[in-house]
Amino acid sequence: MNNRIIGAQSINEEEKNEYTLRPRWLSEYIGQDKTKDKLDVFIQAAKNRGESLDHVLLQGPPGLGKTTLANIIANELGVNIKVTSGPAIERPGDLASILTNLQEHDVLFIDEIHRINRSVEEVLYPAMEDFALDIIVGKGPSAQSLRIDLEKFTLVGATTKAGMLSSPLRDRFGVLMELDLYANQDLKTIVKRSASILDVPIDEQSALEIAKRSRGTPRISNRLLKRVRDYADVIGDGTINLDLTRKSLHFLEIDEMGLDKLDRKICVTIAENFDGGPVGLDTIAASTGQESITIEDVYEPYLLQIGFLNRTPRGRILTKKAYDHYGLEFKDKK
Ligand SMILES: Nc1ncnc2c1ncn2[C@@H]1O[C@H](COP(=O)(O)OP(=O)(O)OP(=O)(O)O)[C@@H](O)[C@H]1O
Ligand SMILES: [Mg+2]
Repeated sequence: MNNRIIGAQSINEEEKNEYTLRPRWLSEYIGQDKTKDKLDVFIQAAKNRGESLDHVLLQGPPGLGKTTLANIIANELGVNIKVTSGPAIERPGDLASILTNLQEHDVLFIDEIHRINRSVEEVLYPAMEDFALDIIVGKGPSAQSLRIDLEKFTLVGATTKAGMLSSPLRDRFGVLMELDLYANQDLKTIVKRSASILDVPIDEQSALEIAKRSRGTPRISNRLLKRVRDYADVIGDGTINLDLTRKSLHFLEIDEMGLDKLDRKICVTIAENFDGGPVGLDTIAASTGQESITIEDVYEPYLLQIGFLNRTPRGRILTKKAYDHYGLEFKDKK
């Protein structure tokens, strides 16, 4: 499942490539204009005052550019970035040692911050609020609490599941930013930018075609571009045109809307086995042979976004749009 070509999660092999394709400055970061404008102001203000930037929480589905933005923030501030993730910080002591090693105004990036454990989270509170660590020395009645001052730093947290963050943690972020799925025009610009970095000739129409099938997600745009390039190298003469783009995406079994076989299976199953719904997530999962969490995190968000599914208290409902797309007969139940 992790290797699904239009999955938004990153595949290991991509990580080093992502490094070259990753914008390093706000001016290179395409789309998300509101987020960008606000960050620009906050960063300038912090720099002018010679202070650290307020803690920033970045929320949004996988592959939209949270890690990229965290690196850009550090870059624009002209400070170091220390990168870690919620599950990687196992004990409070691990976090304490990271925090005491930060220099003034540094950025600490905690990816998947919703997965941080409780005892580690408690260390984070005074660190974020007062730039201090409270340490208990000794045991039993003679135990004493010791306060250690930290340098003023900026915590940048990223999460795909904003709802799973505890409210005390969430409240300690001064800047909350929500990234949205990208518009096709922005994705097209991203495809063209990546193509020029990878030195692949591509025309406007082909770039737009790839954009339209990227599920609003830059990571998928970059991945599709690379696969189309492979196809162009092997089947054609290395140049990407619209015809070749369509053929290679067809070859990859990705349809005009960026949907693959499993999206289709989910929709057809709801239509044929459950009369269009409402049907519960677990039932959908069982009848398509997937895990509920996979359906919920990976497939459902985009199907909801493009209006193929509706979520109701009684379960998921397939919309007429989905019936039409898959050429299924829609029966109005009203
Ligand atoms: N605004 C953008 N402009 C250009 N390229 C972008 C932009 N946002 C993301 N990308 C590209 O998409 C790739 C994925 O972005 P990134 O790794 O920052 O996503 P993420 O939100 O951190 O995902 P995850 O939730 O999986 O960690 C990057 O390598 C980058 O090349
Ligand atoms: Mg990331």
